[in-house]
Amino acid sequence: MGYPHPIHPKETPVLSKHFGEVAARTYAGWVERGGYAALRKALGMAPDDIINEVKASGLRGRGGAGFPTGMKWSFMPKDDGRPHYLCCNADESEPGTFKDREILRWTPHALIEGCAIAQLAIRAATTYIYIRGEFTEPYHILRRAVDEAYANGVLGANALGSGKRIDIVVHRGAGAYICGEETAMMNSIEGRRGNPRIKPPFPAVAGLFGMPTTINNVETLAAVPAIINGGAAWYSKLSLSSPKSAGTKLISVCGHVQRPGTYEITLGLPMKELIYDLCGGLHPGRTLKAVIPGGASVPIMTPEEVETCPTDYEGIVAHGSMLGSGGMIVMDDTTDLVYVIMRLARFFAHESCSQCTNCREGTAWTTRVLERLLAGEGKASDLDLLLDLAENMTGKTICVLSDSCAAPVVSGIQKFRADFDACLNGSRAVVTVGA
Ligand SMILES: Cc1cc2nc3c(=O)[nH]c(=O)nc-3n(C[C@H](O)[C@H](O)[C@H](O)COP(=O)(O)O)c2cc1C
Repeated sequence: MGYPHPIHPKETPVLSKHFGEVAARTYAGWVERGGYAALRKALGMAPDDIINEVKASGLRGRGGAGFPTGMKWSFMPKDDGRPHYLCCNADESEPGTFKDREILRWTPHALIEGCAIAQLAIRAATTYIYIRGEFTEPYHILRRAVDEAYANGVLGANALGSGKRIDIVVHRGAGAYICGEETAMMNSIEGRRGNPRIKPPFPAVAGLFGMPTTINNVETLAAVPAIINGGAAWYSKLSLSSPKSAGTKLISVCGHVQRPGTYEITLGLPMKELIYDLCGGLHPGRTLKAVIPGGASVPIMTPEEVETCPTDYEGIVAHGSMLGSGGMIVMDDTTDLVYVIMRLARFFAHESCSQCTNCREGTAWTTRVLERLLAGEGKASDLDLLLDLAENMTGKTICVLSDSCAAPVVSGIQKFRADFDACLNGSRAVVTVGA
């Protein structure tokens, strides 16, 4: 028995290979496992060669949007004489998402190494790792690893004896989901209120402290050493479906499965195999009702959509949702979807920064209308009202937090209408929802 679960034959452990090995958290343990060889190699490469290697690997952002990583890096200016920054997004506050935490807890040096290589590629001297405030244990583990990397000359003025400067600053958040949005994160690091910024200017032009900045997710950066070591050709072939979905992906699965946890799959693995083989399926006697495949911000899937869906970027879109962060919530036939959607809406209402009217008002009203439906006080017109609110929350605000609130509402009404009708026709028990 290894890391919370033994590696399943259908898993592909690249990032998770050393999860569960306490020694891998230390500098010595990481070096024993081949650590920092990729950084050594990258120190001998031209920045554009690193970018081209990552481009060719097909790596896409693992934080939610799936933007091609090498292309993002190539947007950074060259020889402009200004300081450049890398921000590593370790905020991980999306409901149902708990995969970056495992990298921070078990293989912090993989992240440090990935940050260092990315810094070389984008010509930055400093990385800010913005870590979720509530991540107490991961913070201490990461902090120790960064200190050890400095003590062993990996970081600092003369990284691995190269004469190049590589610095990492670990910055703790204070418990706001919105600070995971990249521009809010930069404001928070600067000591301002964590409100998203209007784009343009894009971070590669004017980001942290007004300087060119790249923001990447923990999992994205932690994959980089494996790509430099194994080569783009190897990584790009790791796919069970489309070449547009290359590599492995950590999927954190929670909800009504027998073995919830974080699993590393090759992109393209059928979603059914993930739920039934890796996670042991549903509890005895239960049937599948719904899946939210990518954190709380994406449309809800029906069992029919799950049946034929590959777990990858394009496949999930073709089946009515999005891969998002890879935080999967599995729900069986005991689930009341109106209640679930209300809880999600309430989360978004609580976490809205309130800067945009459509988000501030939309998330709050959506929550209230769902609460009154659950209380048996809804009207038939409430469903149209919810759809109207959702329409006004989609594509109308500075960031996509309000779009995220709208996605489960719209898909819920469209795909699980019976649950809403039950609230209206009195065929279900009234739920009184506390504050
Ligand atoms: C409200 C909101 C919260 C977000 N939270 C996170 C987060 O916790 N972690 C993360 O990596 N990305 C998060 N994102 C996405 C980031 O803005 C950004 O796209 C991502 O960090 C880019 O990294 P990647 O290209 O490596 O995926 C969030 C976005 C929004 C709108």
